Amino acid sequence: MKKEPTTKLAILHRLADGQFHSGEALGQALGVSRAAVAKHIKSLKDWGLEIYRVQGKGYCLDKPMQLLDGDKIVSNLGRVDVFAEIDSTNQYLLDHVPELEQGSVCLAEYQAAGRGRRGRKWVSPFGHNLYLSMYWNLSAGLGAAMGLSLAIGIATVEALEKLDIHGVKLKWPNDLYYQDKKLAGVLVELSGQTGGVADVVIGMGMNIAISEQDSQAITQPWTCVQDIVAERDIDRNQLASALIESWHQTLVEYEVSGLSSFLTRWQRLDNYFGRPVRLIMGEQQHQGVMKGINEQGAVLLENEQGTQAFFGGEISMRGAD
Ligand code: BTN
Repeated sequence: MKKEPTTKLAILHRLADGQFHSGEALGQALGVSRAAVAKHIKSLKDWGLEIYRVQGKGYCLDKPMQLLDGDKIVSNLGRVDVFAEIDSTNQYLLDHVPELEQGSVCLAEYQAAGRGRRGRKWVSPFGHNLYLSMYWNLSAGLGAAMGLSLAIGIATVEALEKLDIHGVKLKWPNDLYYQDKKLAGVLVELSGQTGGVADVVIGMGMNIAISEQDSQAITQPWTCVQDIVAERDIDRNQLASALIESWHQTLVEYEVSGLSSFLTRWQRLDNYFGRPVRLIMGEQQHQGVMKGINEQGAVLLENEQGTQAFFGGEISMRGAD
């Protein structure tokens, strides 16, 4: 089990109320010197947190924050490990496969080496988003891994809808979009296969409330849950619990019936259904009108040659870069 920096976190828990706390009071409460408090504050800033110091008043976060809390993330479905800092929640589960049970979850406030698809980095600032991974022992084997991200995308949107967060759509094969901007991405990674059974880790990064400063590192149009619900505050612990439950239920269903029970659910949520798109596959490009997915998880494009199924590539709006 990873060791957490407890004093640093204890300071953050006190600052989370958005009020001023003097270095002296923090030091006394936690049994450390004021100099030690100052050192921890500096390393909290390294996570990207904005902490002000005002003479005579002490330290204060730029705004109050709700921290992830393992006790509030309800899952009677498997183990849930919550970390303040980690390299990557996917990597953590991949490293611990032999000890994991079906549906084990890892969440973190900050990822030092969060990764996206195609070797991209996943920008993972502290405390405002969700970085969630789940382990699954896929009895259907490697061949079924392709459809997983589609089923998980559907499970995620349906969980958001239950929380009254509406209008989120899916972009084949791994993204959640809102008004043509990216809200979340899924990364499915394989640990190995034994006798036809595959160990997979499914990870999702969902933007909840990204600051202008953090957004500068994101290289495509993006949005966050807070922009969708505007005036309502998002409870990340409740959201994480809802996702865990929905993913779990969906994975069980996926194991039984594959993608067949998901095809019409996908169609309702497909951001590009009926729209002209380009499918970019390395040097090759295919144009057509988006017609959803098939039972193997391939994307269907309709053009002069009829309807063709493709298993790889990235969708882009036709005419857009
Ligand atoms: C993508 O859109 O490229 C997929 C992004 C997946 C990011 C998540 S965050 C939780 C998990 N841990 C990682 O290192 N990556 C995934």
